[in-house]
Amino acid sequence: MKLIGPFSQIITLNGLSLKGAIKDEELEILENAGILVENGKIKAIDRFENLRKSHPSIELEEIQQPMVLVPGWIDSHTHICFGGKRSKDFAMRLNGKTYLEIAESGGGIWSTVTNTRKESKENLLDSTLEKANHLLKMGTTTMEIKSGYALSMKDEIKMLEVIQQVKENCKADIVPTFLGAHMKPKDFDGSNADYLKILVDEVFPVLKAKNLAKRIDIFTEQSAFSVEESRVYLAEAKKQGFEITVHADQFTPGGSHLAVEFDALSADHLEFSGDEEIAMLAKSNVVATALPGASIGLGMRYTPARKLLDAGACLSIASDWNPGSAPMGDLLTQASILATFEKLSMAEVLAALTFRAAKALNFSDRGILQSGYQADFIGFPTSDFRDIIYYQGQMKPNSVWKKGELV
Ligand code: NIG
Ligand code: FE
Repeated sequence: MKLIGPFSQIITLNGLSLKGAIKDEELEILENAGILVENGKIKAIDRFENLRKSHPSIELEEIQQPMVLVPGWIDSHTHICFGGKRSKDFAMRLNGKTYLEIAESGGGIWSTVTNTRKESKENLLDSTLEKANHLLKMGTTTMEIKSGYALSMKDEIKMLEVIQQVKENCKADIVPTFLGAHMKPKDFDGSNADYLKILVDEVFPVLKAKNLAKRIDIFTEQSAFSVEESRVYLAEAKKQGFEITVHADQFTPGGSHLAVEFDALSADHLEFSGDEEIAMLAKSNVVATALPGASIGLGMRYTPARKLLDAGACLSIASDWNPGSAPMGDLLTQASILATFEKLSMAEVLAALTFRAAKALNFSDRGILQSGYQADFIGFPTSDFRDIIYYQGQMKPNSVWKKGELV
């Protein structure tokens, strides 16, 4: 057991509702506080002096500067396993071409598929691990990583094996997701439905046999898979016991309906969700995940985060780090920018990056600083928690703890 502190403030995120709007006044803010850690878990949080007095002889990890402690970020949506880059696509977009036009003209997801297939396993592992470690240094102590940039049975499995190795070599917790249904590969001879059927018949058994992923994702969109095609795939995934998440309503509403129909853990994107979709998501248990990095990267509207919260939805925010729509990969910057446009309270942003995002990954042991929870937390060099979002990602964490250990 050890004591860490004193911290200027600990923002516990304790006692907040899982769904709906949150006011900053609802935040529990402990001043001059300390945290007791044992076996990677939080043992107690209290005023530093109290903990010191009740545990006079335990190891002390002393904090010698002003510091605010918050739970580690949870990034429930990333595509950080990929080869190449897409600056050419970006330049085309700046010249007026749309995401879909670029995809149709040979850029887009398919160009990343070509580059990812070409990468050796070693190179893919190096570059993915580097990104995962970078995210961890920036405070992301749990992250999801999707496949979906290989789109052949052999290469999708290769991606998931790389993600498995990242999991073994990165101190952050890594959650793999199978996104073979990102688009129908251009070298596949058959219909969308034929392709999805092959994923079900030939890839699902391998995911299970090799324990490579227990979550599946699909890009439900005109340029990828229609609602009807997606429904058949999701029904099969559900039947086989996979957890479900959906790339939904990015350009047209549709995917969110399937997410609710199949009780998905999350519906992600939602830039084009209308009032009907917002009301439906708010009533459901599906986490509504905003991906402001994609809005910034594509120069398009943000997810209607304010409306979702006011309607009562569980809003999380994730980075979507990928080479096409969201190359920035800076979750805190993206969340801070979303907050200014959508008028989110700081409490809502912090919740969206922590315990609400935990629900999207089906974790109930993290995202809050409370006794019994995983000891994942981030220290920022300030004595006022509001600075974290105010500086729009410019203030970096100076200490990150994973399971109680500094990384
Ligand atoms: O979440 N929308 C689909 N998938 C990714 C982008 C993929 C790409 O453009 O490479 C996303 O934005
Ligand atoms: Fe994505």
